[in-house]
Amino acid sequence: MIAMTTDARKILVTSALPYANAPLHLGHMLEQVQTDIWVRFQRSRGHQCIYVCADDAHGTAIMLSAEAAGVSPEDHIEAVKADHLKDSSGFLISFDEYYSTHSEENRLWSETIFNRLNQAGHISIREITQAYDQEKGLFLADRFIKGSCPRCKAEDQYGDNCEACGATYSPADLINPVSALSGTPPVEKASDHLFFTLSDFSTLLATWTRGGSLQPAIANKLDEWIEAGLQDWDISRDAPYFGFEIPGHASKYFYVWLDAPIGYIASFQRYCAQSGETFDTWWEPGGNTELYHFIGKDIINFHGLFWPAMLEAAGLRLPTAIFAHGFLTVDGTKMSKSRGTFIKASTYLEHLDPEHLRYYFAAKLSAGVDDFDLNLTDFVQRVNSDLVGKVVNIASRCAGFLRKGFDNTLSEECAEPDLVESFIAAGEQIAALYENREFSRAMREIIVLADRANQYIDDKKPWVMAKDPALAQEVQAVCSVGINLFRALMTYLKPVLPGMAERAESFLQVSTDWPELQVPLVGHVLEEFKPLLQRVDPEKIAAMIEAGKA
Ligand code: 2FM
Ligand code: ZN
Repeated sequence: MIAMTTDARKILVTSALPYANAPLHLGHMLEQVQTDIWVRFQRSRGHQCIYVCADDAHGTAIMLSAEAAGVSPEDHIEAVKADHLKDSSGFLISFDEYYSTHSEENRLWSETIFNRLNQAGHISIREITQAYDQEKGLFLADRFIKGSCPRCKAEDQYGDNCEACGATYSPADLINPVSALSGTPPVEKASDHLFFTLSDFSTLLATWTRGGSLQPAIANKLDEWIEAGLQDWDISRDAPYFGFEIPGHASKYFYVWLDAPIGYIASFQRYCAQSGETFDTWWEPGGNTELYHFIGKDIINFHGLFWPAMLEAAGLRLPTAIFAHGFLTVDGTKMSKSRGTFIKASTYLEHLDPEHLRYYFAAKLSAGVDDFDLNLTDFVQRVNSDLVGKVVNIASRCAGFLRKGFDNTLSEECAEPDLVESFIAAGEQIAALYENREFSRAMREIIVLADRANQYIDDKKPWVMAKDPALAQEVQAVCSVGINLFRALMTYLKPVLPGMAERAESFLQVSTDWPELQVPLVGHVLEEFKPLLQRVDPEKIAAMIEAGKA
């Protein structure tokens, strides 16, 4: 347990809610790991940082996958959620609460927020016409309609674009359109829909996007949309639908994207109920708490426009910031099932160590929205060279001498106070980089320090001195310095490598949290050194890719 500092911040963090109809893949893990590193960093600095997430459990797709599996949607989402949680905990993601949007808290909050929008005059109703599958009794979203491309005549093209020639069109233009669900031709059918009049918030949103809550590239994109004019947002779907019925509108359901972000609130409420934390101070406007959403750049319209407008209209606080990231590619291309690079989180965990990937993500992540490439050759090289070759090496070299000649005890005085002090002082710069999500730059600083530590040991050559009994004290002094340098590095790496940090703590017999790193350890007794991290075995990567193909 880390002691809270008196100027401790109160920070609530979320990552995007995964859909409850498919397993997590490494793209999800890029986001969760990035979030978790930031969360663990904040906690390690002594702040209160609460991390909540949930499964996004509603919508037609989930209803249909449950039907295909021959189970109820409730059973389906429960099973998927259990799998998701298993994968996330496998990657050492430290959620304080992982809930589901299909919860009573979320139903109540969705109704409350809807009622507030409605009372304030931001909901309108109008009739729209959509494709309808008479056999299934379902309205069809574009992606559920297929037919031949109106331009190149390629068959079996879904929705509004052709994979063969790249044409874009309206699904109504498809030749011989059929429902992908029943194979029957869709008919046009009208029904009433509820709309959130987003344009009521154009002024608010124009100010908000420029208020420092968004990355510059994202703010520019949103500005374009705002300037082009904000359209009303269709927030209802007709029965049958797996979701929450809209109060006062029988057989109409909230569109999944309406209640998904509200799931952040519901999940936090669940956390409060279980932990005794007070709910209100975190969601009232004008409080001293902070709220951050980590998301992929593809869902910025929901988080950067609809969500702040809904919160404002409902009298709730707006996010402090939204942190968007790019997509994950593997060896330079989109993840692909046939190449075996569509890597499920569980497949990775069957073959490799989660901390290897956490480090590789950190070593290449920045605060921008560029895509992230997992280059498998670079991955092996980077982890083995930085972590095993440089960081672990410091501890294992020094531990050997301290065990043999000195009963695992550090010298009574620090032989290089300036060197150790410079490592401790470097922490502030590294902390600033973590705070700004410039993880790759933080990792670079840390590895530069590791190089300096190794250089120090190389210069002193304890293995040569150890042959001369008269130099015994000096051997102990040098290795004790090395251990102190290693301790600083482990403190800085702990948000990325929580498991390795824990093993290092058992060895060092001291915590590796930031505030504790003030004075060098002297006359201190270490535990027996045990391996802290294995090398990445390239054969395991090959096996993982093979498993992905299967
Ligand atoms: O894009 C997705 O995977 C959505 N399930 C994310 C929802 S995030 C939040 F709004 F709930
Ligand atoms: Zn075509």
